[in-house]
Amino acid sequence: MSTDFAYQSSILAADSPTYDVGQVLTACPETGELLDIQYDWDKVEVPSSLKEFESAWSNRNHPLDYSGVWRFRNLFPFASDDQIVTIGEGQTLLQRSNSVAKYVGMNEGQLFLQYEGLNPSGSFKDNGMTAASTHAHMVGAKIAACASTGNTSASLAIYAGTTKLFKVIVFVGSGKIAYGKLSQALDYGATTLQIQGDFDDALKQVREVCQSAGIYLCNSVNPFRLEGQKSIMYRVLEGLNWEVPDWIVVPGGNLGNSSAFGKAFMELKHLGLIDRVPRLAVINAQGANTLYQLVEKQGLCWNGGNPDSTLIDSFYQNMDAENHRANTLASAIEINRPVNLKKCLRALEFCDGVVREVDDHEILAGKAQVGAGGFGCEPASGASVAGAKLLREQGVIAPSDRVVCILTGHQLKDPNATVNYHSGQPAPEFQNAPIVVENDFGKIMEVIDSIE
Ligand code: F0G
Repeated sequence: MSTDFAYQSSILAADSPTYDVGQVLTACPETGELLDIQYDWDKVEVPSSLKEFESAWSNRNHPLDYSGVWRFRNLFPFASDDQIVTIGEGQTLLQRSNSVAKYVGMNEGQLFLQYEGLNPSGSFKDNGMTAASTHAHMVGAKIAACASTGNTSASLAIYAGTTKLFKVIVFVGSGKIAYGKLSQALDYGATTLQIQGDFDDALKQVREVCQSAGIYLCNSVNPFRLEGQKSIMYRVLEGLNWEVPDWIVVPGGNLGNSSAFGKAFMELKHLGLIDRVPRLAVINAQGANTLYQLVEKQGLCWNGGNPDSTLIDSFYQNMDAENHRANTLASAIEINRPVNLKKCLRALEFCDGVVREVDDHEILAGKAQVGAGGFGCEPASGASVAGAKLLREQGVIAPSDRVVCILTGHQLKDPNATVNYHSGQPAPEFQNAPIVVENDFGKIMEVIDSIE
Protein backbone atom coordinates (compact mmCIF):
# COMPACT_ATOMS: atom_id res chain seq x y z
CA MET A 1 0.00 0.00 0.00
CA SER A 2 2.54 2.58 1.05
CA THR A 3 5.50 3.72 -0.91
CA ASP A 4 8.65 2.69 0.93
CA PHE A 5 10.13 6.20 0.98
CA ALA A 6 7.17 8.02 2.54
CA TYR A 7 6.42 7.96 6.23
CA GLN A 8 4.79 9.95 9.02
CA SER A 9 6.73 11.48 11.89
CA SER A 10 6.12 13.92 14.74
CA ILE A 11 6.97 17.53 13.89
CA LEU A 12 8.91 17.90 17.12
CA ALA A 13 12.03 15.95 18.06
CA ALA A 14 14.22 14.88 15.17
CA ASP A 15 14.55 11.37 16.60
CA SER A 16 10.80 10.81 16.96
CA PRO A 17 9.33 7.48 15.87
CA THR A 18 8.11 7.09 12.31
CA TYR A 19 4.91 5.51 11.06
CA ASP A 20 3.85 3.98 7.79
CA VAL A 21 1.71 6.17 5.50
CA GLY A 22 -0.86 3.37 5.57
CA GLN A 23 -1.64 4.15 9.21
CA VAL A 24 -4.51 6.48 10.07
CA LEU A 25 -3.03 8.94 12.55
CA THR A 26 -3.69 12.59 13.21
CA ALA A 27 -1.23 12.92 16.08
CA CYS A 28 1.95 11.16 17.10
CA PRO A 29 0.88 8.32 19.43
CA GLU A 30 3.96 8.96 21.60
CA THR A 31 4.11 12.73 21.85
CA GLY A 32 0.59 13.81 20.93
CA GLU A 33 2.12 16.34 18.51
CA LEU A 34 0.99 16.76 14.92
CA LEU A 35 2.52 14.55 12.29
CA ASP A 36 4.33 15.46 9.11
CA ILE A 37 4.63 13.41 5.97
CA GLN A 38 8.32 12.92 5.28
CA TYR A 39 10.06 11.45 2.27
CA ASP A 40 13.39 9.84 1.75
CA TRP A 41 14.18 12.20 -1.10
CA ASP A 42 17.18 10.15 -2.21
CA LYS A 43 14.73 7.51 -3.39
CA VAL A 44 12.27 9.88 -5.07
CA GLU A 45 12.45 10.83 -8.72
CA VAL A 46 12.47 14.61 -8.42
CA PRO A 47 13.01 16.82 -11.48
CA SER A 48 16.27 18.72 -11.56
CA SER A 49 14.39 21.96 -12.21
CA LEU A 50 10.85 23.18 -11.53
CA LYS A 51 10.51 23.96 -15.22
CA GLU A 52 10.34 20.24 -15.91
CA PHE A 53 6.84 20.20 -14.43
CA GLU A 54 5.71 22.05 -17.55
CA SER A 55 5.82 18.80 -19.50
CA ALA A 56 2.54 17.85 -17.74
CA TRP A 57 0.82 20.71 -19.60
CA SER A 58 0.95 18.75 -22.84
CA ASN A 59 -0.66 15.74 -21.18
CA ARG A 60 -3.94 17.30 -20.15
CA ASN A 61 -6.01 14.25 -21.06
CA HIS A 62 -4.38 12.42 -18.18
CA PRO A 63 -6.43 13.25 -15.04
CA LEU A 64 -3.37 13.42 -12.79
CA ASP A 65 -1.48 15.75 -15.10
CA TYR A 66 -4.63 17.83 -15.60
CA SER A 67 -4.98 18.34 -11.83
CA GLY A 68 -3.20 21.49 -10.66
CA VAL A 69 -2.34 19.55 -7.53
CA TRP A 70 -1.24 16.16 -8.82
CA ARG A 71 0.82 17.34 -11.74
CA PHE A 72 3.32 18.12 -8.96
CA ARG A 73 2.89 14.70 -7.36
CA ASN A 74 6.63 14.01 -7.39
CA LEU A 75 6.84 16.60 -4.62
CA PHE A 76 4.41 14.66 -2.37
CA PRO A 77 4.70 11.06 -3.52
CA PHE A 78 2.79 9.29 -0.77
CA ALA A 79 0.34 7.48 -3.09
CA SER A 80 0.70 5.47 -6.24
CA ASP A 81 -1.04 6.86 -9.33
CA ASP A 82 -3.87 4.33 -9.26
CA GLN A 83 -4.80 5.33 -5.69
CA ILE A 84 -5.17 9.04 -6.38
CA VAL A 85 -8.60 10.65 -6.01
CA THR A 86 -8.97 13.76 -8.15
CA ILE A 87 -11.86 15.85 -9.40
CA GLY A 88 -9.76 18.23 -11.50
CA GLU A 89 -8.86 20.63 -8.68
CA GLY A 90 -6.19 23.30 -8.83
CA GLN A 91 -7.13 25.07 -12.08
CA THR A 92 -6.48 28.40 -10.39
CA LEU A 93 -5.09 31.70 -11.57
CA LEU A 94 -2.41 34.13 -10.57
CA GLN A 95 -3.61 37.59 -11.60
CA ARG A 96 -1.50 40.73 -11.65
CA SER A 97 -3.75 43.44 -10.23
CA ASN A 98 -2.58 47.01 -10.60
CA SER A 99 -5.63 48.51 -8.96
CA VAL A 100 -5.14 46.40 -5.83
CA ALA A 101 -1.41 47.21 -6.00
CA LYS A 102 -2.27 50.90 -5.94
CA TYR A 103 -4.59 50.43 -2.97
CA VAL A 104 -1.94 48.50 -1.07
CA GLY A 105 0.76 51.04 -1.96
CA MET A 106 2.84 48.84 -4.23
CA ASN A 107 4.56 49.76 -7.48
CA GLU A 108 2.63 48.89 -10.60
CA GLY A 109 3.05 45.27 -11.62
CA GLN A 110 4.27 44.09 -8.24
CA LEU A 111 1.10 42.74 -6.65
CA PHE A 112 -0.44 39.39 -7.59
CA LEU A 113 -3.64 37.71 -6.48
CA GLN A 114 -3.75 33.92 -6.35
CA TYR A 115 -7.40 32.88 -6.84
CA GLU A 116 -7.92 29.65 -4.96
CA GLY A 117 -11.67 30.30 -5.05
CA LEU A 118 -11.60 28.92 -8.61
CA ASN A 119 -11.37 25.37 -7.28
CA PRO A 120 -14.36 23.00 -7.79
CA SER A 121 -15.87 23.72 -4.38
CA GLY A 122 -14.87 27.39 -4.49
CA SER A 123 -11.99 27.43 -2.01
CA PHE A 124 -8.37 26.42 -1.53
CA LYS A 125 -9.54 23.45 0.55
CA ASP A 126 -9.79 21.24 -2.53
CA ASN A 127 -5.98 21.26 -2.80
CA GLY A 128 -5.82 19.47 0.52
CA MET A 129 -9.02 17.47 0.27
CA THR A 130 -7.90 15.66 -2.87
CA ALA A 131 -4.87 14.48 -0.88
CA ALA A 132 -6.91 13.54 2.21
CA SER A 133 -9.47 11.75 0.02
CA THR A 134 -6.64 9.87 -1.63
CA HIS A 135 -5.35 8.73 1.73
CA ALA A 136 -8.87 7.86 2.91
CA HIS A 137 -9.21 5.73 -0.24
CA MET A 138 -5.79 4.13 0.37
CA VAL A 139 -6.81 3.00 3.85
CA GLY A 140 -10.32 1.95 2.79
CA ALA A 141 -12.19 4.50 4.90
CA LYS A 142 -15.97 4.17 4.71
CA ILE A 143 -16.90 7.39 6.52
CA ALA A 144 -15.00 10.67 6.66
CA ALA A 145 -15.74 13.70 8.83
CA CYS A 146 -14.59 17.23 9.52
CA ALA A 147 -15.44 20.29 11.58
CA SER A 148 -15.68 23.42 9.54
CA THR A 149 -16.32 27.11 9.29
CA GLY A 150 -17.81 26.09 5.95
CA ASN A 151 -15.21 25.59 3.26
CA THR A 152 -13.67 22.38 4.54
CA SER A 153 -17.14 20.85 4.78
CA ALA A 154 -18.05 21.98 1.26
CA SER A 155 -14.82 20.52 -0.05
CA LEU A 156 -15.09 17.18 1.74
CA ALA A 157 -18.74 16.94 0.68
CA ILE A 158 -17.93 17.49 -3.00
CA TYR A 159 -15.21 14.80 -2.99
CA ALA A 160 -17.52 12.29 -1.32
CA GLY A 161 -20.49 13.25 -3.47
CA THR A 162 -18.68 13.02 -6.80
CA THR A 163 -16.55 9.94 -6.11
CA LYS A 164 -18.96 7.99 -3.87
CA LEU A 165 -15.91 6.43 -2.23
CA PHE A 166 -17.07 7.22 1.30
CA LYS A 167 -19.86 8.89 3.21
CA VAL A 168 -19.40 12.20 4.94
CA ILE A 169 -20.43 13.79 8.23
CA VAL A 170 -19.65 17.47 8.71
CA PHE A 171 -19.74 19.37 11.99
CA VAL A 172 -20.45 23.10 11.78
CA GLY A 173 -20.99 25.72 14.47
CA SER A 174 -24.51 27.11 14.86
CA GLY A 175 -25.08 30.36 13.00
CA LYS A 176 -21.35 30.53 12.28
CA ILE A 177 -21.31 29.47 8.66
CA ALA A 178 -21.92 31.52 5.53
CA TYR A 179 -24.93 30.29 3.57
CA GLY A 180 -23.03 29.68 0.35
CA LYS A 181 -20.93 27.11 2.19
CA LEU A 182 -23.74 25.50 4.19
CA SER A 183 -25.78 25.17 0.99
CA GLN A 184 -22.92 23.25 -0.62
CA ALA A 185 -22.65 20.66 2.17
CA LEU A 186 -26.41 20.13 2.03
CA ASP A 187 -26.57 19.98 -1.74
CA TYR A 188 -23.65 17.57 -2.07
CA GLY A 189 -25.40 15.20 0.32
CA ALA A 190 -23.22 15.43 3.45
CA THR A 191 -24.82 14.55 6.78
CA THR A 192 -24.59 17.95 8.44
CA LEU A 193 -24.47 18.38 12.22
CA GLN A 194 -24.97 21.90 13.49
CA ILE A 195 -23.23 21.87 16.86
CA GLN A 196 -24.50 24.36 19.40
CA GLY A 197 -21.16 26.06 19.69
CA ASP A 198 -18.48 27.56 17.48
CA PHE A 199 -15.76 26.08 15.26
CA ASP A 200 -13.40 25.44 18.16
CA ASP A 201 -16.14 23.40 19.88
CA ALA A 202 -17.00 21.55 16.68
CA LEU A 203 -13.36 20.61 16.05
CA LYS A 204 -12.91 19.31 19.58
CA GLN A 205 -16.02 17.16 19.18
CA VAL A 206 -15.17 15.78 15.76
CA ARG A 207 -11.67 14.78 16.88
CA GLU A 208 -13.13 12.79 19.76
CA VAL A 209 -15.88 11.27 17.62
CA CYS A 210 -13.46 10.20 14.89
CA GLN A 211 -11.08 8.71 17.45
CA SER A 212 -13.73 6.67 19.19
CA ALA A 213 -15.82 5.67 16.16
CA GLY A 214 -12.94 4.97 13.75
CA ILE A 215 -14.09 7.68 11.34
CA TYR A 216 -11.52 9.19 8.97
CA LEU A 217 -10.78 12.80 10.02
CA CYS A 218 -10.28 15.37 7.28
CA ASN A 219 -9.39 18.52 9.19
CA SER A 220 -5.94 19.95 8.71
CA VAL A 221 -4.59 17.93 11.65
CA ASN A 222 -4.56 15.29 8.94
CA PRO A 223 -1.01 15.62 7.58
CA PHE A 224 -2.02 14.48 4.08
CA ARG A 225 -4.23 17.56 3.67
CA LEU A 226 -1.20 19.78 3.97
CA GLU A 227 0.71 17.78 1.37
CA GLY A 228 -1.90 18.78 -1.21
CA GLN A 229 -1.97 22.38 -0.05
CA LYS A 230 1.74 22.70 -0.81
CA SER A 231 0.73 22.74 -4.48
CA ILE A 232 -0.71 26.27 -4.09
CA MET A 233 2.87 27.47 -3.76
CA TYR A 234 4.03 25.41 -6.74
CA ARG A 235 1.35 27.05 -8.87
CA VAL A 236 2.31 30.51 -7.60
CA LEU A 237 5.89 29.84 -8.69
CA GLU A 238 4.63 28.47 -11.99
CA GLY A 239 2.56 31.65 -12.51
CA LEU A 240 5.70 33.71 -11.90
CA ASN A 241 7.68 31.69 -14.42
CA TRP A 242 9.36 29.85 -11.54
CA GLU A 243 10.68 33.03 -9.94
CA VAL A 244 10.37 33.24 -6.17
CA PRO A 245 8.33 36.28 -5.01
CA ASP A 246 9.42 38.42 -2.07
CA TRP A 247 6.26 37.88 -0.05
CA ILE A 248 3.42 35.43 0.32
CA VAL A 249 0.55 36.95 2.28
CA VAL A 250 -2.12 34.57 3.57
CA PRO A 251 -5.04 34.75 5.99
CA GLY A 252 -4.53 32.65 9.11
CA GLY A 253 -7.30 30.57 10.69
CA ASN A 254 -6.46 27.02 11.65
CA LEU A 255 -3.02 27.70 10.09
CA GLY A 256 -3.01 24.76 7.72
CA ASN A 257 -2.16 26.84 4.68
CA SER A 258 0.71 28.77 6.23
CA SER A 259 2.10 25.50 7.62
CA ALA A 260 1.84 23.79 4.23
CA PHE A 261 3.45 26.74 2.45
CA GLY A 262 6.39 26.68 4.86
CA LYS A 263 6.85 22.94 4.32
CA ALA A 264 6.69 23.40 0.55
CA PHE A 265 9.50 25.95 0.65
CA MET A 266 11.57 23.92 3.12
CA GLU A 267 11.45 20.96 0.76
CA LEU A 268 12.02 22.96 -2.42
CA LYS A 269 15.08 24.56 -0.85
CA HIS A 270 16.32 21.21 0.44
CA LEU A 271 15.93 19.75 -3.06
CA GLY A 272 17.79 22.66 -4.62
CA LEU A 273 14.74 23.59 -6.72
CA ILE A 274 14.72 27.18 -5.44
CA ASP A 275 17.67 29.26 -4.35
CA ARG A 276 15.84 31.60 -2.00
CA VAL A 277 12.68 31.57 0.07
CA PRO A 278 9.90 34.18 0.10
CA ARG A 279 8.90 35.84 3.35
CA LEU A 280 5.59 34.74 4.79
CA ALA A 281 2.99 37.09 6.26
CA VAL A 282 0.12 35.45 8.13
CA ILE A 283 -2.85 37.72 8.71
CA ASN A 284 -5.28 37.18 11.57
CA ALA A 285 -8.64 38.84 11.97
CA GLN A 286 -8.47 41.05 15.05
CA GLY A 287 -11.36 39.09 16.58
CA ALA A 288 -9.52 35.77 16.18
CA ASN A 289 -5.90 36.70 16.74
CA THR A 290 -4.29 33.93 18.78
CA LEU A 291 -1.28 33.67 16.45
CA TYR A 292 -0.75 37.43 16.42
CA GLN A 293 -0.95 37.65 20.21
CA LEU A 294 1.38 34.74 20.81
CA VAL A 295 3.99 35.55 18.16
CA GLU A 296 4.07 39.32 17.94
CA LYS A 297 3.04 40.25 21.49
CA GLN A 298 4.42 37.38 23.55
CA GLY A 299 7.43 36.39 21.47
CA LEU A 300 6.46 32.77 20.83
CA CYS A 301 8.66 31.16 18.19
CA TRP A 302 9.61 27.75 16.82
CA ASN A 303 12.86 27.85 18.73
CA GLY A 304 14.50 25.02 16.84
CA GLY A 305 11.61 22.66 17.53
CA ASN A 306 11.15 23.69 21.16
CA PRO A 307 8.33 26.23 21.17
CA ASP A 308 7.37 27.41 24.65
CA SER A 309 4.43 25.13 25.45
CA THR A 310 3.88 26.76 28.84
CA LEU A 311 3.27 30.07 27.13
CA ILE A 312 0.76 28.46 24.77
CA ASP A 313 -1.01 26.60 27.59
CA SER A 314 -1.35 29.66 29.78
CA PHE A 315 -2.64 31.69 26.83
CA TYR A 316 -5.43 29.17 26.32
CA GLN A 317 -6.13 28.91 30.03
CA ASN A 318 -6.65 32.67 30.22
CA MET A 319 -8.81 32.55 27.14
CA ASP A 320 -11.00 29.88 28.71
CA ALA A 321 -11.11 31.66 32.07
CA GLU A 322 -12.47 34.75 30.32
CA ASN A 323 -14.70 32.61 28.07
CA HIS A 324 -13.16 34.54 25.21
CA ARG A 325 -14.70 33.47 21.88
CA ALA A 326 -13.49 34.22 18.37
CA ASN A 327 -15.57 36.93 16.71
CA THR A 328 -15.14 38.28 13.20
CA LEU A 329 -17.24 38.88 10.10
CA ALA A 330 -14.64 36.83 8.26
CA SER A 331 -16.34 33.67 9.52
CA ALA A 332 -13.89 31.36 7.71
CA ILE A 333 -11.10 32.42 10.06
CA GLU A 334 -13.19 32.79 13.22
CA ILE A 335 -10.92 30.40 15.11
CA ASN A 336 -9.23 30.88 18.47
CA ARG A 337 -7.41 27.57 18.83
CA PRO A 338 -5.45 27.05 15.62
CA VAL A 339 -4.51 23.38 15.56
CA ASN A 340 -1.50 23.89 13.31
CA LEU A 341 0.04 26.51 15.57
CA LYS A 342 3.39 24.76 15.99
CA LYS A 343 3.73 23.89 12.31
CA CYS A 344 3.00 27.51 11.52
CA LEU A 345 5.76 28.62 13.92
CA ARG A 346 8.13 26.41 11.97
CA ALA A 347 6.99 27.99 8.70
CA LEU A 348 7.39 31.49 10.14
CA GLU A 349 10.92 30.73 11.23
CA PHE A 350 11.95 29.18 7.92
CA CYS A 351 10.36 31.97 5.85
CA ASP A 352 11.40 34.85 8.11
CA GLY A 353 7.71 35.44 8.61
CA VAL A 354 5.59 38.05 10.32
CA VAL A 355 2.07 37.99 11.75
CA ARG A 356 -0.38 40.87 11.69
CA GLU A 357 -3.98 41.45 12.71
CA VAL A 358 -6.51 43.50 10.75
CA ASP A 359 -9.99 44.50 11.84
CA ASP A 360 -13.23 43.68 10.06
CA HIS A 361 -13.42 47.12 8.40
CA GLU A 362 -9.97 46.65 6.92
CA ILE A 363 -10.85 43.12 5.83
CA LEU A 364 -14.04 44.26 4.10
CA ALA A 365 -12.25 47.19 2.46
CA GLY A 366 -9.58 44.81 1.15
CA LYS A 367 -12.29 42.49 -0.11
CA ALA A 368 -14.11 45.40 -1.80
CA GLN A 369 -10.89 46.39 -3.56
CA VAL A 370 -10.43 42.86 -4.85
CA GLY A 371 -14.03 42.91 -6.04
CA ALA A 372 -13.56 46.24 -7.79
CA GLY A 373 -10.20 45.47 -9.38
CA GLY A 374 -10.05 41.70 -9.51
CA PHE A 375 -12.36 38.71 -9.65
CA GLY A 376 -13.70 39.02 -6.10
CA CYS A 377 -13.21 36.94 -2.97
CA GLU A 378 -14.88 36.08 0.32
CA PRO A 379 -14.20 38.16 3.46
CA ALA A 380 -11.42 36.02 4.98
CA SER A 381 -9.43 36.37 1.76
CA GLY A 382 -9.69 40.14 2.01
CA ALA A 383 -7.44 39.82 5.08
CA SER A 384 -4.50 39.10 2.74
CA VAL A 385 -4.91 42.40 0.95
CA ALA A 386 -5.59 44.30 4.18
CA GLY A 387 -2.52 42.69 5.72
CA ALA A 388 -0.32 43.56 2.73
CA LYS A 389 -1.52 47.17 2.96
CA LEU A 390 -0.69 47.31 6.66
CA LEU A 391 2.76 45.86 6.10
CA ARG A 392 3.37 48.42 3.33
CA GLU A 393 2.30 51.23 5.67
CA GLN A 394 4.64 49.88 8.33
CA GLY A 395 7.49 49.78 5.81
CA VAL A 396 7.94 46.03 6.23
CA ILE A 397 6.99 45.42 2.61
CA ALA A 398 8.73 47.75 0.14
CA PRO A 399 6.79 49.19 -2.84
CA SER A 400 9.18 47.43 -5.20
CA ASP A 401 8.76 44.01 -3.57
CA ARG A 402 6.91 41.35 -5.45
CA VAL A 403 3.91 40.33 -3.36
CA VAL A 404 1.43 37.48 -3.78
CA CYS A 405 -1.80 37.67 -1.78
CA ILE A 406 -3.56 34.33 -1.48
CA LEU A 407 -7.30 34.64 -2.05
CA THR A 408 -8.57 31.57 -0.32
CA GLY A 409 -12.28 31.57 -1.14
CA HIS A 410 -14.70 32.57 -3.89
CA GLN A 411 -16.69 35.79 -3.83
CA LEU A 412 -20.01 33.89 -3.93
CA LYS A 413 -19.33 31.96 -0.73
CA ASP A 414 -20.70 34.71 1.49
CA PRO A 415 -23.04 36.97 -0.50
CA ASN A 416 -24.60 38.35 2.69
CA ALA A 417 -21.30 39.89 3.74
CA THR A 418 -20.92 41.51 0.32
CA VAL A 419 -24.47 42.84 0.03
CA ASN A 420 -24.43 44.11 3.61
CA TYR A 421 -21.19 45.97 2.88
CA HIS A 422 -22.51 47.58 -0.28
CA SER A 423 -25.90 48.53 1.14
CA GLY A 424 -25.18 49.06 4.85
CA GLN A 425 -25.17 52.27 6.88
CA PRO A 426 -23.02 54.14 7.70
CA ALA A 427 -21.67 53.73 4.19
CA PRO A 428 -18.17 52.22 4.16
CA GLU A 429 -15.44 53.75 2.00
CA PHE A 430 -15.81 51.53 -1.06
CA GLN A 431 -19.55 51.04 -0.97
CA ASN A 432 -21.33 50.56 -4.29
CA ALA A 433 -24.92 50.75 -3.08
CA PRO A 434 -27.82 49.66 -5.24
CA ILE A 435 -29.92 52.66 -6.32
CA VAL A 436 -33.59 52.35 -5.55
CA VAL A 437 -35.67 53.79 -8.35
CA GLU A 438 -39.37 53.90 -9.14
CA ASN A 439 -40.79 51.66 -11.81
CA ASP A 440 -40.96 54.63 -14.18
CA PHE A 441 -39.07 55.31 -17.43
CA GLY A 442 -38.55 59.01 -16.69
CA LYS A 443 -37.23 58.41 -13.18
CA ILE A 444 -34.92 55.67 -14.44
CA MET A 445 -33.55 58.06 -17.12
CA GLU A 446 -33.05 60.78 -14.50
CA VAL A 447 -30.87 58.40 -12.52
CA ILE A 448 -28.94 57.30 -15.61
CA ASP A 449 -28.36 60.91 -16.69
CA SER A 450 -27.00 61.73 -13.26
CA ILE A 451 -24.32 59.02 -13.49
CA GLU A 452 -20.95 60.61 -14.17
N1 F0G B 1 -9.67 31.44 4.14
C1 F0G B 1 -10.76 30.69 3.97
C2 F0G B 1 -11.71 31.09 2.90
C3 F0G B 1 -10.99 29.56 4.79
O1 F0G B 1 -12.07 28.82 4.61
C4 F0G B 1 -10.08 29.26 5.82
C5 F0G B 1 -10.28 28.13 6.71
C6 F0G B 1 -8.95 30.07 5.94
C7 F0G B 1 -8.77 31.15 5.09
C8 F0G B 1 -7.92 29.80 6.95
O2 F0G B 1 -7.04 28.84 6.48
O3 F0G B 1 -7.08 27.30 8.42
O4 F0G B 1 -5.38 27.11 6.65
O5 F0G B 1 -5.33 29.02 8.23
N2 F0G B 1 -11.36 27.50 6.80
C9 F0G B 1 -11.54 26.29 7.56
C10 F0G B 1 -12.88 25.65 7.24
C11 F0G B 1 -11.23 26.38 8.97
O6 F0G B 1 -13.42 24.94 8.09
O7 F0G B 1 -13.34 25.80 6.12
P1 F0G B 1 -6.14 28.02 7.52
